[in-house]
Amino acid sequence: MNAVSLDPLAKLAATLQEASGLSPTAAFDGRIDVAGDDPTLADFVKHQALMRCYQARYVLLPPEAPAEGVLAPMRRHYDEARLASLAALRPRLEAELIAPGAPAGQGDISAYVEHMLAEIREAPESAFTAFLAGADHRDDHYRNFLVQSSPDLLAEASASALGVLGEYGEPQSALFRILIDEFGYGVHGKKHAVLYRATMRSFGLDDAYNGYWPWFDTEALALHNAIHWLFQNPRNFFRQVGFLLYAETAYQRSTLAHHRYLREFHPDADARYFAEHAHIDLHHTRMVIDEAVTPLVARFGAEAGREIIAGAELTKAAFARAGDHLLAVSQAFAAAGSASFGAPASPRERLGRPVTPRSDLAALARSQIIQVGALGVLSDPREFASFPPAAIARIVP
Ligand SMILES: [Fe+2]
Ligand SMILES: [Fe+2]
Repeated sequence: MNAVSLDPLAKLAATLQEASGLSPTAAFDGRIDVAGDDPTLADFVKHQALMRCYQARYVLLPPEAPAEGVLAPMRRHYDEARLASLAALRPRLEAELIAPGAPAGQGDISAYVEHMLAEIREAPESAFTAFLAGADHRDDHYRNFLVQSSPDLLAEASASALGVLGEYGEPQSALFRILIDEFGYGVHGKKHAVLYRATMRSFGLDDAYNGYWPWFDTEALALHNAIHWLFQNPRNFFRQVGFLLYAETAYQRSTLAHHRYLREFHPDADARYFAEHAHIDLHHTRMVIDEAVTPLVARFGAEAGREIIAGAELTKAAFARAGDHLLAVSQAFAAAGSASFGAPASPRERLGRPVTPRSDLAALARSQIIQVGALGVLSDPREFASFPPAAIARIVP
């Protein structure tokens, strides 16, 4: 087949494959899958492409020099033509994947904030940690949670950093102070992404950014992309403030639940990431409300307030979807008769073809087994049909 007749995503996949080289380090591995003749993979591959678009905006380096040196793969990864082909697809992907889930905001911002704070404080702590408390194979479920959350958290606040650039008055300095907390106030060991790495390592996981990209499922990518869509488009500035408003507030609660869970069930795991957030996000919530939301609405009026609400609601919906999905995948895996828990170490080395629950699973040869994220394998791929639609598995090569 000649390149011109390939659809734009398949063409992009070929470009990205070539730039990645034969055995790329995780930092310079920019590959995506090809939907091929499986139409049920379309959304998954589009989200992968959008993730690559967004991540091309910032610096990634491997922990040590690759065999070919650092400059050659770096130049391929940030090559102008590669960046241009990613940027060319971005508006279409955003319009299709993100914009439909971003409704307009309505209502009064002070009432909204008051209601949101009360609602989050009264909410049950976390359906996922409640499930884990009574589950077998907790390690595997938790490992999958860490992996599916890693596209964002291993570079935590790199998206929101893009919203701090520019010139917009006093709220900018408040958001910058939050940002430097996220970056450990310049102390590398305290950077939130570095704390997250430590938790991953204590579960025996590789802590490289994107080290597990083949296992990121559609919903994990969708959450990452929604956050980047907000922050990589300056027109979303007020919605970015809404994101911070909701995320900082919700995070105090969810990280507290995870911290308690880890202390009880995995006392040797490094839980500093969660302990730190349960504490500091109380301050971040106040800073967002008092130093960004309130002065911005005083300055720009109710329309700014509505846009902040729109961002908070988008964030709430994206978090809820990702959380519900993660739990549903764990529950489906736990209920599958042919499931064996446990994950191979290096999913990037031998990439198997991805499938969705709506793929033609019966057509997979009897001997083929499929890997579901970091949870483990199903020896009967047909069981994958009852998983949530945004789940992804890979044929074990
Ligand atoms: Fe953080
Ligand atoms: Fe925070």
